[in-house]
Amino acid sequence: VLHISDFTARQLGGDMWLLTALLLWADPTKAVITLQPPWVSVFQDEQVTLLCEGPQRPGDNSTRWFLNGTAIQTSTSKYSITAARVSESGEYRCQTGLSVPSDPVQLEIRRDWLLLQISSRVFTEGEPLTLRCHAWKNKLVYNVLFYQNGKAFQFSPRNSEFTIQKTNTSHNGVYHCSGMGRHHYTSEGVTVTVKGTSPTPVWFNILFYLSVGIIFLVNTVLCVTIHKELQRKKKWNLEVSLASDSGKKVTSHLQKDRYLEEEVNCLEQQEQPQEKAQQKNP
Ligand SMILES: *[C@@H]1O[C@H](CO)[C@@H](O)[C@H](O)[C@H]1NC(C)=O
Ligand SMILES: *[C@@H]1O[C@H](CO)[C@@H](O)[C@H](O)[C@H]1NC(C)=O
Ligand SMILES: *[C@@H]1O[C@H](CO)[C@@H](O)[C@H](O)[C@H]1NC(C)=O
Repeated sequence: VLHISDFTARQLGGDMWLLTALLLWADPTKAVITLQPPWVSVFQDEQVTLLCEGPQRPGDNSTRWFLNGTAIQTSTSKYSITAARVSESGEYRCQTGLSVPSDPVQLEIRRDWLLLQISSRVFTEGEPLTLRCHAWKNKLVYNVLFYQNGKAFQFSPRNSEFTIQKTNTSHNGVYHCSGMGRHHYTSEGVTVTVKGTSPTPVWFNILFYLSVGIIFLVNTVLCVTIHKELQRKKKWNLEVSLASDSGKKVTSHLQKDRYLEEEVNCLEQQEQPQEKAQQKNP
């Protein structure tokens, strides 16, 4: 019985491992970078903090940071830049113990008079996009105009922040702003990408998880059946001969298949003793 239990445990263990691997492959957890304040571009000497979130390995809460693909000397989940330098511009990524590297955050540090700040460069349809027309040394700007692809779409006499609550693919394009301070200033353009969500991947995902679930279920049922059958067979074998039991390590699929074939025979034979038992009873 020990061999058979071993076999079952190994089979189930293998199933669980396979299931976990498949799920991780289909949906790996990505680390996520959040910016505080939320802007992907800042002026030189301004302060910005990058926060990394992702699942950690037990007993190891370190975080890895990358700038333009090169590891940087920080292992805390918080990466603070107190006085940004132009040379710190680049593509930031982070990774925690049990995550895959985050999507990149392209941080830009500029010297300019007016800066159009945005909360992200890439969006999925439906996410909000906040724009801020920000002046050097936080000077007051008024009569702010926001432009998309060269066309003004929003005027703010005082407030220099504007939010598009639900982005859609029509919000793709290059944005800039202009405003009045001591002079009339115009910012550089920034590119915003809004990715549409098509229904196909959702269906694919559902189908995928369903398939994995069914495979797992069938495999488990099959395994339990074989286990029971093997136990039954073992009893019979004991009755017939104790010696014939030695070479019964179930390791190969070939043998598994043979057992399945035998299982059908066993089920047929199984009915006969039951009939006999019923005949005895009356
Ligand atoms: C990990 O967590 C411990 C206690 O929660 C904390 O003292 C330590 O600073 C953390 N280390 C890192 C790298 O975040
Ligand atoms: C990272 O790459 C960008 C674009 O290729 C470059 O402008 C920037 O200077 C690089 N940053 C660092 C720190 O190397
Ligand atoms: C996109 O959003 C704007 C409002 O922000 C709306 O007027 C427009 O109809 C939307 N376009 C599509 C294709 O859904």
